[in-house]
Amino acid sequence: MRILTCCSEAYAQVDHLRRQGARVGFVPTMGALHEGHLSLVRRSREDCDATVVSIFVNPTQFGPHEDFSRYPRTFESDCAALRDLGVDFVFAPSAEELYPAGFSTYVQPPKVAERLEGKCRPGHFRGVATVVLKLFHIIPATAAYFGQKDYQQLLVIQHMVDDLNVPIRVVGCPIVREPDGLAMSSRNRYLSQAEREAALSLWKALTAAQSALSSGQRDARELEQLMQTTLYTQGADRIDYAVVADPASLEPVSQVDRPAIALVAAHVGKTRLIDNLLLQP
Ligand code: PAJ
Repeated sequence: MRILTCCSEAYAQVDHLRRQGARVGFVPTMGALHEGHLSLVRRSREDCDATVVSIFVNPTQFGPHEDFSRYPRTFESDCAALRDLGVDFVFAPSAEELYPAGFSTYVQPPKVAERLEGKCRPGHFRGVATVVLKLFHIIPATAAYFGQKDYQQLLVIQHMVDDLNVPIRVVGCPIVREPDGLAMSSRNRYLSQAEREAALSLWKALTAAQSALSSGQRDARELEQLMQTTLYTQGADRIDYAVVADPASLEPVSQVDRPAIALVAAHVGKTRLIDNLLLQP
């Protein structure tokens, strides 16, 4: 496994592989890797001839009061895990390499970025879309792997790739959870033992919505109400949103007569967590 820090070197390596006819899979990450990230790497390894993983804590997608400076950085153990999985290249640029002095061009994210995370984290998807488009140019892969954990992010990337004719296949992969249901997240490291319990409120809210739907409650507002109540009673400190939406557009739905996506974002102590579940009537 080779570790690359320079954009032109990374491009040259991937371009060389592609010219030889190799299928190249790409997994963009911010490091602090867990089984969720590693599931994307395994999927890429299955589908492709070579796999590139990027590790870059992207400053432009964090708000001024967010956790950029304290975001966990575990580069050595991340590389050890990726080496064990048979990854070919890790691309780990510095902030100056991706955003040199004078950088001023940003991607205007698609409409699907406006709601939910877009409302709660102004500028977040502008930063995500910008860095991911840059990475797609630096790593001209065949396919790129994203988790459904960040459901809206996956839609944003899919729309960007379609709208801007980016020649990369975007593959969405299932959420990996802890045995009790908590969605794996780099931010789970912030949680104390008591907060770890409270963090399970997100999964409890989502599964409560699915149970109510299975028992015949199809009214989306009622399901949202149930998720809110569950989040609060099970330990969330503050809710950013708890919604039932159309899985493609994220527009609100009134009745769940076909699959809908339930999405929650809530704060537990100082940690902001998100999760989602596809509701099946
Ligand atoms: P990061 O939060 O490190 O996540 C990298 C990828 O891992 C994303 O596609 C995310 O959805 C996926 N992932 C995280 N937790 C997961 C889980 N429990 N199960 C399955 N997949 C999971 O998302 C980002 O980084 C950044 O925004 C990035 C796309 C790298 C741009 O900076």
